[in-house]
Amino acid sequence: MTHEEGPHVTLPSGKKMPLLGFGTWKAEQGETKAAVLSALNAGYRHIDCAAVYLNEKEVGEAFKEWFATSGVPRSDLFITSKVWNTMHAPEDVVTACKQSLEDLGLDYVDLYLVHHPFAWKNGGLPITEDNWVVRNDKGGITWAEGVTLEDTWRAMEKCVELGLAKDIGVSNYSVLALMDAMQYARIKPAVNQCEAHCYYQRCELRQVCAMFGVHFTMYSILGSGKKGPLQDEVVARIANEHDATPAQVLIAWGVQTGCSVLAKSANAARIEQNFKAATLKLSAEQVEELGALDRGLMTCNMVEYWGFPSHA
Ligand code: A2P
Repeated sequence: MTHEEGPHVTLPSGKKMPLLGFGTWKAEQGETKAAVLSALNAGYRHIDCAAVYLNEKEVGEAFKEWFATSGVPRSDLFITSKVWNTMHAPEDVVTACKQSLEDLGLDYVDLYLVHHPFAWKNGGLPITEDNWVVRNDKGGITWAEGVTLEDTWRAMEKCVELGLAKDIGVSNYSVLALMDAMQYARIKPAVNQCEAHCYYQRCELRQVCAMFGVHFTMYSILGSGKKGPLQDEVVARIANEHDATPAQVLIAWGVQTGCSVLAKSANAARIEQNFKAATLKLSAEQVEELGALDRGLMTCNMVEYWGFPSHA
């Protein structure tokens, strides 16, 4: 299946984003290059990255090798990156985008996202384990005073004007943050990428995205590998009915909602298995049954990462 043939959405720039993408969040340093090469070999053409995943250089090594050996042109891949919270000041956004491009070995990204709707103090580039957050003397987060999301968005628009990004969007934006963005954006966000899966379907947020014509991308479609949708009995039964795996059913459900879906794996066999799910067709009844599994179970609770909730 090629990029053009598989299920996809066309973004405002005209670029086609395959609905199934390969996630690189939590891909460990030392295993990321092999995982991305496995994903490209399996057929993935949509790769989701971010500066704060601390592995963009390795992703870039995989791209370099892939372009040299596969004969597949850059234009056949859809690549996303994200500006980290410490790079929200307008003068920092373009610099951060260029750093990601350098690490990824690219001239442009297809999609550049604001990773979270809040601005922290600049701790330097590249983003590392030591500077992804600048702590104050009480151990709290230091915020970037006076930097608004509108300021950040103007600089995101500049990334498009400079040809560094084909489309721009947001990630982890709540209904209110998105509504606000629709007021100040000259180039409207193309995408809102958020946690969503059968146990956490984000129906209201998806409805608001649809109202504004903002495409919704689901990350952690497998529930981050934690106890949850992967172990669900209904999912297991539907998987049996298709001679498929629970992971494939979860991915297929997401794709059949019309959203794009990101699945991460570091294991070559699971990467191949997951990619095949994009063409698994669930019946309308099965989609309905999976829709009934929603229980508001967030598996990426930001409180665990930085001590305050940011998903509401
Ligand atoms: P691994 O990398 O060892 O394959 P999410 O995409 O929701 O963040 O989930 C990623 C988690 O799900 C990882 O722990 C990953 O482990 C695991 N995973 C990925 N694919 C599968 C699969 N097909 N079956 C079971 N677990 C999977």
